[in-house]
Amino acid sequence: MARGTSPNTFRAAQRPAGTPLGHAPHLHVVGAEARSQAESAPRLHLDNVTVRFSSRAVPAVEDISLSIGRGEFVALLGPSGCGKSTLLNVLAGFCSPTQGHVHLDGEPLTAPSAKCGVVFQKHSLFPWMTALDNVAFGPRRLGMPDPRRIAQELLDTVGLGHVANSWPSSLSGGMQQRVGIARALATRPPVLLMDEPFGALDAQTRSLMQEELLSIWDKLRPTVVFVTHDIEEAIFLADRVVVMQAFPGRIAQEFAIPFMRPRSAEIMDSAKFIESRREIADIIRIEARKSFR
Ligand SMILES: Nc1ncnc2c1ncn2[C@@H]1O[C@H](COP(=O)(O)OP(=O)(O)OP(=O)(O)O)[C@@H](O)[C@H]1O
Ligand SMILES: [Mg+2]
Repeated sequence: MARGTSPNTFRAAQRPAGTPLGHAPHLHVVGAEARSQAESAPRLHLDNVTVRFSSRAVPAVEDISLSIGRGEFVALLGPSGCGKSTLLNVLAGFCSPTQGHVHLDGEPLTAPSAKCGVVFQKHSLFPWMTALDNVAFGPRRLGMPDPRRIAQELLDTVGLGHVANSWPSSLSGGMQQRVGIARALATRPPVLLMDEPFGALDAQTRSLMQEELLSIWDKLRPTVVFVTHDIEEAIFLADRVVVMQAFPGRIAQEFAIPFMRPRSAEIMDSAKFIESRREIADIIRIEARKSFR
């Protein structure tokens, strides 16, 4: 089923597309044209995906159809429990849909793929390896030349070159998360799946890491699916923000983000940014109220 006809999109009868709550629309709700662009050669494609856990009456995610193009940066945004991590696990091949299909580069995705680098919501380093060896693990396994140099460079990039030989247990949660990001980048995967990667970082480090991620994305142009519940982070980073609603987790609305690249933190002070944030916050507020229980 095409996204435009999916029951999980807003219908014109409910609210004219892109005209939330009576103030001038600033963001474009993603329409058929942009969708068909992503669908023409999608890197990732979800087709009417539902995930139902046997212990739950309501599906974690229901009837999600989404195409993500090559080099596209998509943010998944929504309240706690709306199924963001579940959807990311489906895209990573860790979780099979109860219904529907997932394709990576046109092939059915039935298991984790080396094409995808994953940053988990909770840091998940190998505790028996140093930070450096954690990052070098992927390149070593793929037979890439000089894994330790690759790892050291990436640890430098995330500001942790000085703790390369430390054990994960001696690092703070935020530092472990940054090692996890370096580890996901180490094999230069064409797809990066990131589940609230900056959630554990303090505001300053978070802002630096957002800029660093954008600069990495500029250089390597991976396809990124970035889960967050931070509206500003989603607008600052993404080409497209997919807003989800909870119980069951569905797509409520998609927004194309109009800011040119490369982007710097100054755009966050612009009137256009503030207006965009308000439009998305309004949608999330409506959806959160509907699903609050
Ligand atoms: N393994 C599981 N078994 C049963 N229910 C699960 C499981 N994993 C997730 N769920 C349920 O599925 C729903 C979606 O969970 P998910 O973790 O995907 O949400 P989320 O949007 O990532 O939330 P958060 O922002 O808090 O991380 C929740 O109701 C959750 O309790
Ligand atoms: Mg989650």
